[in-house]
Amino acid sequence: MKNMNILENISARSKMMDASKIREIAELGMLKNDVLALWFGEGAWPTNPLIVEAAVASIESGNHKYQPNNGAMNLRHEICRYSNDLFDCELTPERITVSSSGMQGLKLTAELLITPGDKVITIEPGWPSTSGAFKLAGANIKTIALTPKNGTWNIDIDQLVAMLTPEVKAVIINSPNNPTGWTMTAEDQQVILDHCRKHSIWIVADDVYARIYRHGKTAPSFLSIADPDDLLISVNSFSKSWSMTGWRLGWIVAPALLEAKFAQLTEFNMSCTAGFIQEAGLAALKYGEDEVTTLLNRIEAGYKFSATQLSSFERVEFIQPDGAFYCFFRVVGLTDSLAVAKDILHETGVGLAPGIAFGATGESYLRLCYAQPLDLLEKAFERLTPFLNRKN
Ligand SMILES: Cc1ncc(COP(=O)(O)O)c(C=O)c1O
Repeated sequence: MKNMNILENISARSKMMDASKIREIAELGMLKNDVLALWFGEGAWPTNPLIVEAAVASIESGNHKYQPNNGAMNLRHEICRYSNDLFDCELTPERITVSSSGMQGLKLTAELLITPGDKVITIEPGWPSTSGAFKLAGANIKTIALTPKNGTWNIDIDQLVAMLTPEVKAVIINSPNNPTGWTMTAEDQQVILDHCRKHSIWIVADDVYARIYRHGKTAPSFLSIADPDDLLISVNSFSKSWSMTGWRLGWIVAPALLEAKFAQLTEFNMSCTAGFIQEAGLAALKYGEDEVTTLLNRIEAGYKFSATQLSSFERVEFIQPDGAFYCFFRVVGLTDSLAVAKDILHETGVGLAPGIAFGATGESYLRLCYAQPLDLLEKAFERLTPFLNRKN
């Protein structure tokens, strides 16, 4: 007999957590054959061999031991060089902590900043794992909605500023945003930075899609305008730009005074990130720029094809992304995106993420990841066409 007390005897916080609805579709889809999986946020292509070889060489040379909490110094230096070139800033290694993924960077940041009950503002639709990490730390989350206007996503910056009252602990800004691709302008970032400075509010910038930007080499970043001791934490990742989702490697940029705190928090989480994975990251930053360019070209081709396809359906409201690699599109008449994503999976074998996974405002939407080869996207749209043409 099952001991039902088991689930009663866990922490209140773990009881309160919901399962990810993106995972719900993915887990169903993984049980099926011939599924075109566009549910997760990852490119279809393998990691570049130069990066793989760096990790293999590192393992073979005996790099098997614990690493410094904040990460290997050579990688921290290289992250500074990369960021300083890209964002035109002047980072120094004590401001960098290597993390075992962007997700872990967000989790450590939540643990660092949040005392239970603290008010945190996030943007919706948004990637659910970010609010999940902050909720687990006890944050009281309020959201501001992005809205479609003239075919693009918009934020009401005055409304956001009005929400950032002095008792707010942090605002989390994921730009380019998952799932919409909305990207905050440099001007709006300056407004937010000035306001947050005045009221000592933390800005948590989730920059994991900074390179996956359709209008330039990088999306605007708070790192370009902030001072070294501003209340700013930027979280970044190797996952998206170098096709390294499975490697679990990212980094945090924070004021230098937090170096020891991030070391302590890392000690009680992963303790450190594997040395040979860090060597792979070093190779990505040193030799991976061509790889980023190749990936961006592939992603743009996927975008153009998907945008043309989606724009051709009367039932679909297609809203243009500025960055990341998703189409987050509204389907007229859709009221239960999770049920519909399951129907689409069963009827067509195409795996899409349900809009509700990204917050209540996403309910009539579906998310498609277009970081895929064109032949796969062609097949997916062939299968989706009858559904997207359907009148109800
Ligand atoms: C907005 C956002 N932030 C952070 C992450 C974390 O990426 P990773 O944990 O793979 O580094 C993701 C992954 O999908 C994401 O979409």
